[in-house]
Amino acid sequence: LLICFVVFLGAGYVVAQLNVLAQNQMIDGEPGLSFADLKLKYHGGWIEREPGKAAPSRMLEMIRGAMREYFQTDEHYEVLVRWLESGAGRVQFEAGPAPTPHDVLFTCLDCHSPESGEAIGRESPFGPDLFSVEYDMVSKFTLAGSAEKTDKSGRARVWRAPVRWQALVMTAHAHVLSVPIFVAMLGGLFLWTGWPRAQRRRTLLACAPLVFFLADLACWWLARLPGVGPFFVGLIAVAGALFGASYALQWAVVMMALCRAKV
Ligand code: HEC
Repeated sequence: LLICFVVFLGAGYVVAQLNVLAQNQMIDGEPGLSFADLKLKYHGGWIEREPGKAAPSRMLEMIRGAMREYFQTDEHYEVLVRWLESGAGRVQFEAGPAPTPHDVLFTCLDCHSPESGEAIGRESPFGPDLFSVEYDMVSKFTLAGSAEKTDKSGRARVWRAPVRWQALVMTAHAHVLSVPIFVAMLGGLFLWTGWPRAQRRRTLLACAPLVFFLADLACWWLARLPGVGPFFVGLIAVAGALFGASYALQWAVVMMALCRAKV
């Protein structure tokens, strides 16, 4: 039973890492998880707008990921992507042959409307009610409406805000209540193995994942600070890697001990 349980603890961590990759890799518009993704997510950042191409917006990120399944057809999805990539302009929103981007977004009102009864409908509505989609409400997620600045070399830049604090609280609360439980279970088994012999070292190793997890959580919030924020974005990656290393070490030690245990 314990071996099966520990197999799940390992698989759970691997799946969680895949989820981190799936949810965050497209934030900067490029596949693969990078510092740029983390910085845009936790601190926000200026994105250069290449001529003829849209800056990677929250809308693009979400429809390439979690929201992809809500499109009625592939054509609808492509209409929206084309509109977003060409700058998400007001005129193009309702112009051209049907379906226009405006038409496509109707399906989303089931959740993204204040009348939908969903929390996201109040936080991120695309229209005032269940029957209308409004450009001004949608453009909050496309960066088209956000302040554009031009740097010295004449390139246009737009500010991409960090993840909403409400969304961060939601992720934090789910993690704070669940992670310590399975980490403490693995840590308890680790203490039982009696490795390493030196008790102090063993205790330190047993506590390490939870300490790194706490540091990681703290950095999610510290990364929002102006000025020093990006430093804490780096620490998110470091704390995450140290968590993974100490958790993997415990896992391997526990697994070996369980396989060798004589009953
Ligand atoms: C079944 C309900 C549901 C439907 C339908 C839905 N969404 Fe969402 N959407 C959500 C939820 C829940 C979130 C919050 C998820 C999160 O933050 O990770 C969300 C978040 C978003 C966000 C980010 C909002 C923000 O404040 O950062 C965008 C953009 C988005 N959805 C676009 C769409 C589009 C476009 C469609 C239609 C093709 C759509 N959604 C359909 C439930 C839905």
